[in-house]
Amino acid sequence: MAEVKSGHIVNVMKEERLFPPPKAFSERARIRSMEDYQKLWDEAAADPGKFWGDMAKELHWFKPFDKALEWNMPFAKWFVGGLTNVSYNCLDAHLNTPRANKAAIIWEGEPGDTVVLTYRMLHREVCKFANCLKSLGVNKGDRVSIYMPMVPELAIAMLACTRIGAIHSIVFGGFSAEAIADRNQDAQAKVQITANGGWRRGKELPLKGIVDEALEKSPSIQKCIVLKRTRTECSMKEGRDVWWHDLMAKASPDCPAEPMDAEAPLFILYTSGSTGKPKGVRHTTAGYNLFAKKTFEWVFDNREDDVFWCTADIGWITGHSYIVYGPLSAGATSLIFEGAPNWPDEGRFWEIIEKYRVNVFYTAPTAIRAFIKWGDEWVDKHDISSLRLLGTVGEGINPEAWMWYHKKIGAERCPIVDTWWQTETGGIMMTPLPGATPTKPGSCCKPLPGIVPEVVGEDGKPVPTGSGGWLTITQPWPGMLRGIWGDDERYKAQYWSDVPGKYLCGDNARCDEDGYYWIMGRIDDVLNVSGHRLSTIEIESALVSHDAVAEAAAVGRPDDMTGEAVCAFVTLTSGTEPTDALKKELKAHVGKEIGKFAAPADIRFTSALPKTRSGKIMRRLLRDIAAGRESAGDTSTLEDFSVLARLRSDDE
Ligand code: WTA
Repeated sequence: MAEVKSGHIVNVMKEERLFPPPKAFSERARIRSMEDYQKLWDEAAADPGKFWGDMAKELHWFKPFDKALEWNMPFAKWFVGGLTNVSYNCLDAHLNTPRANKAAIIWEGEPGDTVVLTYRMLHREVCKFANCLKSLGVNKGDRVSIYMPMVPELAIAMLACTRIGAIHSIVFGGFSAEAIADRNQDAQAKVQITANGGWRRGKELPLKGIVDEALEKSPSIQKCIVLKRTRTECSMKEGRDVWWHDLMAKASPDCPAEPMDAEAPLFILYTSGSTGKPKGVRHTTAGYNLFAKKTFEWVFDNREDDVFWCTADIGWITGHSYIVYGPLSAGATSLIFEGAPNWPDEGRFWEIIEKYRVNVFYTAPTAIRAFIKWGDEWVDKHDISSLRLLGTVGEGINPEAWMWYHKKIGAERCPIVDTWWQTETGGIMMTPLPGATPTKPGSCCKPLPGIVPEVVGEDGKPVPTGSGGWLTITQPWPGMLRGIWGDDERYKAQYWSDVPGKYLCGDNARCDEDGYYWIMGRIDDVLNVSGHRLSTIEIESALVSHDAVAEAAAVGRPDDMTGEAVCAFVTLTSGTEPTDALKKELKAHVGKEIGKFAAPADIRFTSALPKTRSGKIMRRLLRDIAAGRESAGDTSTLEDFSVLARLRSDDE
C-alpha cells in the first residue's frame, strides 16, 4: 500500500471501495443527491445564523427568538430571547396531529416484558412525574441525578425534568457508588432518581444498594425516588427515600410545560478526560433540541412509519440524542431494549429486529465486532429483512467489520451511516447521508450542513489534503456544548486554547482528495515508530482484515531503537488457536498491508480488551501494560476491571 508522507501523521490506509446509495433508497430519501446536500451545506456555511434560524421555526416557541446566533468566542448563544420547552417539542407538539396515538416508545425488558407508550400516553406519564418532582420541591434550574436501568421510566424522568426546567445529570447504570457521588457532588444535585434493581444477563443488579452508598457522600441530595423494577429487596431511608409508584398514585396528569429560555441548561453529562476528574458537559435548551431533531431526520432519513432502534444506553450522549430527544422531537417511534446482546443467547438483537420489524438499526463497532466473533449462525436464525438503514457510532469502524455489516446485516441493500460525533457536539457532525453520499468503508465521509471542519497541524495551520492532523471545527453549531459545568476555564483550556479560535475535538483526522474525512483516533493515541507517526486505527484495521482476528488494539511502547515499537493486543475469532506461528503470520500480514515499519514488535493474545462502558477500547491502559507500568489516571469508566488483571497476569 502507498504511504503518504505528510510531515504530520502518516496515512497508510488506502481504501478504494466505493458504495453508491441504492437507487431505490435515494428516490424516497429526504436528501436525494450530492447536489442537494452541497446546496444545503453551502447555504449553511454562508450564513449559519440564517440557516439555523429558518430551521428553528420547526420548534414550538412560547416567545420567538430575537436573534439566531450571538458568537462571543468560545461562548455561543443560539436563538437569543426565545422561549421554548424540549418536553413540549417532544410530546405536546404531536398531540393535535395524527401522531397522537402513534407509538413513541416501544420497550422490551431483558426478561422479555414489553411496554408500548403512544405519544398521548407518554405525555400523560411525563406530566404526572413532573408533578411528582414538583411535590418534592424540585424547581427550575435544580439538578436531578438519575441512575437507572434502561426502562421507559428513565425517558419519562428525563422529559419530566425538562418539562419543569430542572437539569438532569444521568449517570450510566454501570458506574460505581464513588462515580455517582463525585458527579452528584460536582453538580450539587438535589434529588436522586433510581430503581431497586436492574436486569443484566439474567441477574438482578442491586442498584439501590449502590445508590445508598453514593448518597452517604452526596450531601446535596435531599430526596431519592425509587422505581420498583426487580424483585430485589432494598432499604428505604425514612424521610429521604420514596417509591416512584407511591408518588405517581397521587399525581395529577395536568402539568403545562414551563417556557424556558433558549439558553437555559437542559442537562449535564459527565465524560471522562484521559486524566483528571470527569467533565460535566453542559448542553442547553433550544440549540441542542434543534440539532438533535434535524440530525436525526437527515441522517436516519426518518419516515413516518419507521421503527428506529439505537442500541446505546440512555446514560450516554448517543442515548440522550438518538433514543430520546432526537426521535421524539421528530415524532418517530423509538425502540428501547433493556438487556445485553448475548442474553439469553447471541441472537437476541436479531430476534428483536424480527419481532418489532425494526427498519433502522444504530449500534457501535464494538458490538459489530462481537457479532462477527459469535458467528453468522445467530443472524441466520432470524428474519431481519425489515431493515433498510444501518448506522455506527462511538469508534472508527474497521473496513472489514464494515464489509461484514454491509453484507450480513444489510444484505448489500442497506446504506451504512458511520457517524462521527462526541458528547460535546450534542449530535452527529460528520456522516454519509444515506440517500446521497457514496460511502467508503472506514470513513465518516462528509460534514453535515452547518458543520465546517478543518484539519490542522500543531501550528494551527491547515495541513495539505490527505495529511493527518488535529480535527477542528471552525464555526459554532446549535448543538455544541456551552461549557463545562462550573468550570469555564477548563472549557477554554480544553477545547479552545491549542488552536485559537477553533474547536479542538481531541481526535486526529485526515481529509482525502474527495473531501471525505477519516478519523484516525484520539490525539493521545498516536504512535511514533522511527519517526513515523501512525494512527492506531490503521494498524488495527490491518489486523482485523486477517481471518483469525476478531478485535485488535495497537499501542506504542518505549523502544531504544525505534523510539516506540508497536504492541498489538489481539482477540481471536472463535475456534482459532493462539499459536506462535499465528503471531508471526499476523506480524507479516501487517507488514504486507501497511509496510514493515508498522509491523507490531509484540503481539499479545487476550480473551478481552479493556473498554469503557460505552465500548471504546482504552488504549491508554494498554500502553501502561505494554510498557510494564502501573496505570495512572482515571479508570472509573473501565467496564470490567478483571480484564486488566488478566492482561497483566498474561504478562508473566
Ligand atoms: C470517537 C460518542 C471514529 C471519537 C457519540 C470521538 C468515533 C469520541 C466515531 C466521542 C466514528 C465517535 N468514527 N471515531 N464514527 N464516533 N468516535 O463522547 O474519538 O462517547 O472523539 O460520543 O468517540 O465519544 P463520546
